[in-house]
Amino acid sequence: MYKEYQKEAQKIISKMTLKEKIGQLNQITITPYMNDIKNLHSMIRNGEVGSIILASSATAGNDPQGHVNVDLYNELQKIAVEESRMGIPMIYGRDVIHGHRTVYPLPLASASAFNDSLIEKCYRNIAEEATADGIRWTFSPMLDICHDPRWGRIVEGPGEDPYVGAQMAKACVKGFQGDDLTDKTSLVACAKHYLGYGFSEGGKDYFRTEISDATLQNYVLPAFRAAVDCGVGTVMSSFNDINGIPVSGSKKYLNDILRGQLGFEGFVVSDWGAVEQQEAMGFAEDRKDCAKNSIKAGLDLDMCDKCYIENLEALVNEGQVSEETINLAVERMLCVKLAMGLFQRPYGEKHDYDKEMHLADARELAAESMVLLKNDGVLPLKKDANIALFGPFVSERRSLLGTWSLDGSEKDTPTICEAMSAAKSGGKLIVHNTNGLFDNSEYLSTDADVIVLALGESHWTTGEHHSVSDISLYASQIDLINRMRSTGKKVVGVFFCGRPMALEGVVENLDAVLYAWHSGSETANAACDILFGDVVPSGKTPVTFPRKATHIPLYYNITASSHPVNGYYGDHPQDNYTDSIATPLYPFGFGLSYTKFEYSNLVVDKQEITLEDLKQGAKFDVSISVTNIGDYDGKETVQLYIRDKVASLMRPMRELKGYKKELIKQNQTTNVNFQLSYNDLGFYNENGEYLVEKGEFEIYVGENCLTENKLSIKVV
Ligand code: GLC
Repeated sequence: MYKEYQKEAQKIISKMTLKEKIGQLNQITITPYMNDIKNLHSMIRNGEVGSIILASSATAGNDPQGHVNVDLYNELQKIAVEESRMGIPMIYGRDVIHGHRTVYPLPLASASAFNDSLIEKCYRNIAEEATADGIRWTFSPMLDICHDPRWGRIVEGPGEDPYVGAQMAKACVKGFQGDDLTDKTSLVACAKHYLGYGFSEGGKDYFRTEISDATLQNYVLPAFRAAVDCGVGTVMSSFNDINGIPVSGSKKYLNDILRGQLGFEGFVVSDWGAVEQQEAMGFAEDRKDCAKNSIKAGLDLDMCDKCYIENLEALVNEGQVSEETINLAVERMLCVKLAMGLFQRPYGEKHDYDKEMHLADARELAAESMVLLKNDGVLPLKKDANIALFGPFVSERRSLLGTWSLDGSEKDTPTICEAMSAAKSGGKLIVHNTNGLFDNSEYLSTDADVIVLALGESHWTTGEHHSVSDISLYASQIDLINRMRSTGKKVVGVFFCGRPMALEGVVENLDAVLYAWHSGSETANAACDILFGDVVPSGKTPVTFPRKATHIPLYYNITASSHPVNGYYGDHPQDNYTDSIATPLYPFGFGLSYTKFEYSNLVVDKQEITLEDLKQGAKFDVSISVTNIGDYDGKETVQLYIRDKVASLMRPMRELKGYKKELIKQNQTTNVNFQLSYNDLGFYNENGEYLVEKGEFEIYVGENCLTENKLSIKVV
């Protein structure tokens, strides 16, 4: 896809000076130059700027951002195209992570929808909006698998499962990039943070990781493999090291695996300052050494730390770095710029888009992302009920957008109070924001039929450099829940959170729990759609909810242990831990509906297939019947897991290999079919070789990872 532009790129390179080549590998932010615009103009005119990042700081995720300005970008681009010697256009990039003007759910929330086509549609909308503001490249999707919800950035990714990560990768990249990379609405995507950033020890951001090659191949890489397979234009190298080697200075990760094994053809951009940070990590003597490590490792574009522009020329002149290495990096930059048609259409082109449709899609995805964790029957509510709406999130707007929503409009984001007022028809709505000093919520609740508590966590405790040591719910919110419980009325908890929180001891005092996440512009309206039954909840969690923070890490796709261990697959109170039961509060793939689904008749068309036939394309056809035995039409995400019973590398007790989200009407039975092929039954060894081994496989198909619907098949 990108290599087809190699010849054209090489022709351009043949006319470039070394300085101009190095300029292509330099990305700057324009914020510091706003008061020094002449200097910026001369840098661009001299060919010193290959790319501009539209972010005001290295941690833009939660900082208020100046809005974009396509006229300014075009003015600067005009200098690059018309006044620099080579006339190579710059590529503008921005963190358009899960929305632009219309904000969609945090990626972790979207992953809960298990609805790839809807996600792709929404990410196409995002691309339409961002390109209308002159942005043609985004630093998204973030594909970091994570087992530790203390990490603030878990909210930016697909959760704990590699298969979900791969589906999210495909949906986001296809949505962003569209069918034609040269189209004016195509937004070049960036698979990040390559690699293993989500395994930071202790959930501490920017921290060290220890990841075996086998774990890397089977848990961390699959999402990136999927992004590369669907043509992602760029990859961002991460801050972290893996086993003592910073990824941003590693040929093994950036070249041998990313390009050699995965076949990536686009360009690699560093994370902000990740080149120069090798010095702080003790992997480089100085900035010059940093630049040498990274350029030789295969890192093409240096984000904002000027290591390349200040050192590469000397490194080449001293013979420490060959000009061929520089040429290769420039070629990859130019191939992406050529592939996206930047030479033909270098300027941002304002265009219209259907904002109402985008908002409607945002509301639909938000509703499909929300997870009903508990319901004793109090939900759905009647629209004419007397409702007491209390809690610290009653009037919250900004947090509902979630972290990394740089261009979302806080003032245009409805609060749960506004949404509930609009949704109700009749009955009282008694509102009290218990964030205040004076809290008379017990007294106020006397007139209510039901109490709804708007709870959650601020966007400030999520995202980049916002990890937490404890994911317990805040004491003030626990106190509010307990006080409301004492009124004897039904109490519904709506949690506006970014990450899964430890809710043992909390959910017991609530009659219903709706996990609304930080679901973007339409969070509040979507939550009310569910609370009042206009939408039947269908979200399933893509990340485990541990009972306590002290049970972390707790994830479903673990390998078996030599002794019974207190955890996912069976609690053995006499075993560790001796002081608590460390089974999940809610397991991976869990989510309730207002209706009920009954699974039956799990069958497979054949008991065994030879390995040879499997390689030739033979498949197992698995099917199961799902009947809606409840009182509402509803969507159910039917999940298929495998367990490779014996292998040369211990395999997880469950591995998600497929899911299908089906609308099943009341009293209707649907047959859900899956196919298992060679590509579903294998694993990667530590060298990245894909293996399918003979033996027995257990197949589980059901409502979450703990389903007991099981059958066996064999590869012989
Ligand atoms: C930040 C983040 C990265 C983001 C980049 C540009 O440090 O780690 O996710 O895309 O810098 O803002």
